[in-house]
Amino acid sequence: MKEKRQKRKSRQLRQVVFFILLIIGGMLVLLIILLVLIILIAFYYISFAKTLFITKVPYVGSFDRQLDIMKELQLEKWKTIIDLGCGDGKALRFFAKDFWLKGRWYDLNGFAIIWWKILNKILWYDNIVLERKNFFDAYIKNADYIYLYLFPPVMDKVEEWIFNNKNTDTIIIVNSFSFPNKQPFKVIWWKIYLYK
Ligand SMILES: C[S@@+](CC[C@H](N)C(=O)[O-])C[C@H]1O[C@@H](n2cnc3c(N)ncnc32)[C@H](O)[C@@H]1O
Repeated sequence: MKEKRQKRKSRQLRQVVFFILLIIGGMLVLLIILLVLIILIAFYYISFAKTLFITKVPYVGSFDRQLDIMKELQLEKWKTIIDLGCGDGKALRFFAKDFWLKGRWYDLNGFAIIWWKILNKILWYDNIVLERKNFFDAYIKNADYIYLYLFPPVMDKVEEWIFNNKNTDTIIIVNSFSFPNKQPFKVIWWKIYLYK
């Protein structure tokens, strides 16, 4: 009788210990998830602020309306396009999907680059290469097309650098903020400027 009671007690004790361990384990897992989230959010904002400080160009993705307008472009399939300042690469995924272009992206935003390297693999965008780099250090002579969606304060410098470094046949597609000196050979919907 005594033995039975002892057995029951030790079983109950084991159940209590198991329950406490389960609660501690669950709390630890939640804590780790929370920590990872805080690190990711901090990494996102630090990358964003640091990039903005260096480049003076905030990350704003091309708008869907602008991408819709660019469907009118007659681009040759399988050519190479370089997005100078790619952000999360929304524009390049559009060019890869709608025009079957091979893309190369440059941006200084480390968070965007790492995040989209992972997502592009999952989404099977195999023909897109991302690089964390100041685009002024990039090689652009092999590009058939160059895409830009930057802001007016940097367009002067970017214009001079591109025209000194690009191949003569390369077509530049500029979204919204045109070059201050060169004349485009085509303008679509007062928004998209094409230069050669
Ligand atoms: C307005 S966003 C455009 C994003 C993308 N091209 C799109 O259309 O969806 C401009 C991006 O250019 C990047 N950028 C500006 N100057 C840069 C530079 N010198 N080198 C690399 N990236 C730059 C910024 O970090 C920002 O993410």
